[in-house]
Amino acid sequence: MRVQEMRKLVRLRAVELDGTRRRLAACHDVSDLRRVAKRRIPRPVFDYVDGAADEELAVAANVAAFRQWRFLPRVLADVDVVDMSATVLGSALPVPLALGPAGYTRMLHPDGESGAARSAARHGLPYTLSTMAATGIEELAAVAVAGGGSGGAAVAGGAAAGRPDLWFQLYILKDRSQARDLVSRAADNGFGALVVTVDTVVAGNRLRDQRNGLSIPPELSLHTVASVASKPGYWLRLLSGPALDYANFAGRPPTTIRKTADFFDASIDWSDIADLRSRWAGKLIIKGPLGPTDARRAAELGVDGIQLSNHGGRQLDRTVAPADLIAPVREAVGPSVALLVDSGIRHGADVVVALALGADAGVLGRAYLYGLMAGGEAGVDRALDLITRQFRTTMQLLGVTSVAELRKRGRELITREPR
Ligand SMILES: Cc1cc2nc3c(=O)[nH]c(=O)nc-3n(C[C@H](O)[C@H](O)[C@H](O)COP(=O)(O)O)c2cc1C
Repeated sequence: MRVQEMRKLVRLRAVELDGTRRRLAACHDVSDLRRVAKRRIPRPVFDYVDGAADEELAVAANVAAFRQWRFLPRVLADVDVVDMSATVLGSALPVPLALGPAGYTRMLHPDGESGAARSAARHGLPYTLSTMAATGIEELAAVAVAGGGSGGAAVAGGAAAGRPDLWFQLYILKDRSQARDLVSRAADNGFGALVVTVDTVVAGNRLRDQRNGLSIPPELSLHTVASVASKPGYWLRLLSGPALDYANFAGRPPTTIRKTADFFDASIDWSDIADLRSRWAGKLIIKGPLGPTDARRAAELGVDGIQLSNHGGRQLDRTVAPADLIAPVREAVGPSVALLVDSGIRHGADVVVALALGADAGVLGRAYLYGLMAGGEAGVDRALDLITRQFRTTMQLLGVTSVAELRKRGRELITREPR
């Protein structure tokens, strides 16, 4: 058959000349983004994101915990119009999602924290900056405001155009005056929520990082030289941007990943949360694997939200999956405390399960970081668009027309798969 004859039968699709857009368009779920990231990013950097603590049992169990639920759809429910919006910690979000904190995000792609925050702003979602970020509090506040609200396959609503909803994640540092300084800088720069991570009293035992000899900032070693040869594009991009560092500690002596452990304080206790509550006027969220008893205690101290998390399995391996804590913690704290959950969300259906169990929102970690590694800021857009689309389709096929309805009738809509 000649080409001309073929053209009568099939329409030729325009060829996408931009390599990144072409690659991202071929990704149809988070696993696709992960696969592309793995192909394009040097092994030690990919492993820094993909890896977890010790035998990596928790990270696998986190994902499985969301997937053990089966849906019980209601048919003929007129799902033509679906309202995915939700009010979370006083913010109206177009979909109940937020982007979680990740240390050293700029090592994954030069778009880094700023690109992820811009993408979050375009989608009307909160972005959480890590204490250990490679972009500083002041820089992120400025960059994200300048870039927010522009173009993209955005979902309407959420953060006002151009003004992203920024949250700051705090590690309570050994040097308390340094921690207090971070908190006031976050307040001065308009960060609306403080997310206090309580599962990092010591550094997690991340074997992939140890085996790969990962150092932050990356150092020249035999490993690095080999990966320069195999992934030159990554290194060219990295070297074209500003030097990597723990930007929130600029002006202080440089530090390395090996020394990160020196930051953390194994002696933190509940009085630190009470102290932060008295200092921080914005929303206060406690992030960690809180069971019902700890969650009740946090609520009594006046936190606004609890982010159920086991750090994506990167701290204590074998920690209970946060998905399994949603129902008991909701029962313990009642309806007034916002309940967020991270660790294991890879699909919009995971967010549906989280809400059906009693959570207010899902928080993404690796799901958007794979996107960032696969294609920078556009890759984060792709991850958010895919998960949002999956969330909507799951709601429609389940026969629910609003997040409020999903929250109200959730337990009738899911059943645990018999083992
Ligand atoms: C590369 C990477 C860096 C992270 N850095 C931080 C951090 O600095 N502070 C923090 O509280 N959590 C950090 N986390 C944990 C995430 O905020 C989140 O709890 C976790 O990624 C959720 O698990 P999931 O990615 O499997 O969904 C990090 C996670 C990853 C993957």
